[in-house]
Amino acid sequence: MVENKVLIIDFGGQYSQLIARRIREFNVYSMIKSYKISSQEIAEINPIALIFSGGPNSVTGPDSPHIDPDIFNLGIPILGICYGMQLMASMLRGGIVKKAVQGEYGKASLHIKKDTGILYNIEDKTQVWMSHGDQVVKLPEGFENIADTEVTDVAVMANSKKKFYGVQFHPEVLHTLKGKDILHNFLFRECNAQAEWTMADYIYEEINKISDEVKEEKVICGLSGGVDSSVASAIVYKAIKEQLTCIFVDHGLLRKGEAKEVRRTFEEEFNIPLVYVNAKDRFLNKLTGVIDPEEKRKIIGEEFIRIFEEEASKIKGARYLVQGTIYSDVIESGSEHAAMIKSHHNVGGLPEDMDLKLIEPLRMLFKDEVRKIGEVLGLPEEIVWRQPFPGPGLAIRIIGEIDSKKLTILQNADAIFREEIREAGLSREIWQSFAVLPDLRSVGVMGDDRTYGFPIILRAVKSDDAMTADWAQLPYDLLEEVSNRIVNEVNEVNRVVYDITSKPPATIEWE
Ligand code: XMP
Repeated sequence: MVENKVLIIDFGGQYSQLIARRIREFNVYSMIKSYKISSQEIAEINPIALIFSGGPNSVTGPDSPHIDPDIFNLGIPILGICYGMQLMASMLRGGIVKKAVQGEYGKASLHIKKDTGILYNIEDKTQVWMSHGDQVVKLPEGFENIADTEVTDVAVMANSKKKFYGVQFHPEVLHTLKGKDILHNFLFRECNAQAEWTMADYIYEEINKISDEVKEEKVICGLSGGVDSSVASAIVYKAIKEQLTCIFVDHGLLRKGEAKEVRRTFEEEFNIPLVYVNAKDRFLNKLTGVIDPEEKRKIIGEEFIRIFEEEASKIKGARYLVQGTIYSDVIESGSEHAAMIKSHHNVGGLPEDMDLKLIEPLRMLFKDEVRKIGEVLGLPEEIVWRQPFPGPGLAIRIIGEIDSKKLTILQNADAIFREEIREAGLSREIWQSFAVLPDLRSVGVMGDDRTYGFPIILRAVKSDDAMTADWAQLPYDLLEEVSNRIVNEVNEVNRVVYDITSKPPATIEWE
């Protein structure tokens, strides 16, 4: 039983999971509950601290989420972030929140008036990340204003007796340069948190949850060979051993040599039984003539599930499906408050009439956390540090219509790029590096002849969690070598270009 729990109360903020992740980084256990939780339920959980998240609403609006007012009488320290701070101010006696004359979005400089409590040892004029249209105009009783910015008069409010704090900015995002120190002050100075929780505890809890839920039932796992589905299946295997069957669907949209490599690693190094399903023709047929990226994802997502259902029906009694869904898949698919960017095939692409129940032990984790778990579980390095590869595979790297000829061109060009990156020793520091085949041709000259061929777009990015990414500044001689090799070795390609756009405004994949 974890003693040292931090409870995050979610008001629909974009960053609630990021707050949870920051707390895990401090080796402290955290959980997220909806703002609808009652004070009695909180008392039963008995957390050492409460954090109120941000949210898209205005506290002054008619339907804005509020909380059970008794929560303020539990004697538990509270940190309110953005909306969370405004909610505290509006619910506690004397406080007033109003729409600001001028909203504040992006970077701001925090002027610290009193470096106590959560601002202990934080230097003046530190950069913070703001995103608000309302502001606290009158402090509630017992609070003092300990920091401001040029635009916002109350940027941090404190009631040090009750250990209630409010910050108008977002300490959980990395653009708030001292955000981690501020959260650290709150947890360790104000709430006496102990750093005693580890990823091994996470694994242990997940294993227990899975064995409690699944009992004697059979489970199948969709394995892609990537780090997410491998780690997910390894956790489930620890929980239920032979009740698990892993299924590797080869949709024909994998990289060159990948299917063989995945089978080898799984069977030889993992020792987990693997069913191999060759569904290349099936997927290609379904995708014929399809141009729209979202439609491609939906078709692939649905086809995956149909194949799993078919395989599950062969395994008598299989009722559960393990997926390696991670948090960035969930948030980008728009299923948690945030706007939909792409319906990742394993989230937004799932059919509604699905017979299998999902088990997703990594759903709330970020990629680097998944890698940590992989290491704790002792998975081979080549799996743990494999670059992410999207479930729909090369279907979303061939822009427009897909056919087997284009697939071969892309696989060959991509293999050269990956090989050169690997040989330059850059695979690990680069988040993803891959080739894209656009739906256009251009004129070139080879020998003395005119060519009219495809360009290949190279994409390489650096990132921590795929939520944002910078284009990788690859050495020119590496790019030159890759370009030479691709135009010489891959038929029908006469031009190579390098994508130098970050995310945002672009995304990592082209579709
Ligand atoms: P974007 O292109 O949205 O990608 O910046 C962020 C990360 O997600 C991967 N990605 C996907 N993964 N199904 C997946 O499993 C998908 O439909 C999908 N679309 C993008 C992408 O490779 C990157 O790592």
